[in-house]
Amino acid sequence: MAEPGSVWITGAGSGLGRALALRYLAAGANVAGTARRVDTLTDVALAGVGKPGHFHVHPGDLALAGQAEALVAAIERSSGPIRLAVLNAGTHRPSPAAQFSAATVSDLLEANVMTVAHCLEALLPRMLARGQGQIAVNASLAGYRGLPKAAAYGASKAALINMTESLRLELEPAGIRMRLVNPGFVRTPLTDQNDFPMPFLMDVEQAAERLYQALEHGTAFEIVFPRRFAYILKFLRLLPYVLYFPLVGRATK
Ligand SMILES: NC(=O)c1ccc[n+]([C@@H]2O[C@H](COP(=O)([O-])OP(=O)(O)OC[C@H]3O[C@@H](n4cnc5c(N)ncnc54)[C@H](OP(=O)(O)O)[C@@H]3O)[C@@H](O)[C@H]2O)c1
Repeated sequence: MAEPGSVWITGAGSGLGRALALRYLAAGANVAGTARRVDTLTDVALAGVGKPGHFHVHPGDLALAGQAEALVAAIERSSGPIRLAVLNAGTHRPSPAAQFSAATVSDLLEANVMTVAHCLEALLPRMLARGQGQIAVNASLAGYRGLPKAAAYGASKAALINMTESLRLELEPAGIRMRLVNPGFVRTPLTDQNDFPMPFLMDVEQAAERLYQALEHGTAFEIVFPRRFAYILKFLRLLPYVLYFPLVGRATK
């Protein structure tokens, strides 16, 4: 029996968001999906036909102020209170130092941080008034520490990690559960563009299953996958710079 209320997944048209939406539909949930491209959302709705849940298409550009507010209001009107929001929409672009561009930094902060901030601004007053709700923010293991060619992406994901930790401290006593999702490499259209070896690359359905189980049945603040890669990066995060730079420099040459 699915829990009452709706599940909002941003970036539901592709990759991890799409696979997670289908997993929730298989569990009988009422899922609202957002992305800019309507056709990708319609495709998820079609893929979900025959599954016990219902998929509602709510397209929008979350980088634009005001869109998230309108979307949240529309979702709650048609599908009931959002019990879980998975703020997953985002993108990646490499930013090698030799072509450093402030525009790339600005684009990725807008795509990865402001999309989440707009959703939080729309969701929090409603969840606070109800005294319940769960919000998962999809950051990345790349937000732990500086990695080559990731100055812009890494900065955006580090910002999300810090923002989610900060909110966790304030919102837990108010009945709102913040979850931080830090994936390693998952095979999606985003990583299909990468031209470098991706250690422990994970299948998207497997990643979505892991995320689904953690969101529905786990209680830990941070959700990481694949676990072995996450443990390596957690270890690297503890190293002093004098060890971190030579080790990571060699490993990523
Ligand atoms: N794949 C990985 O290995 C990996 C690892 C760590 C973290 N992540 C994070 O996981 C999340 C999902 O990644 P993915 O690999 O599944 O990427 P993906 O296949 O490219 O999917 C990204 C989704 O976000 C949507 N989106 C992007 N900008 C948006 C905006 N402004 N407004 C609304 N929707 C927007 C896209 O749809 P439209 O283009 O139609 O808007 C698409 O549905 C991202 O935040 C990514 O940084 C991924």
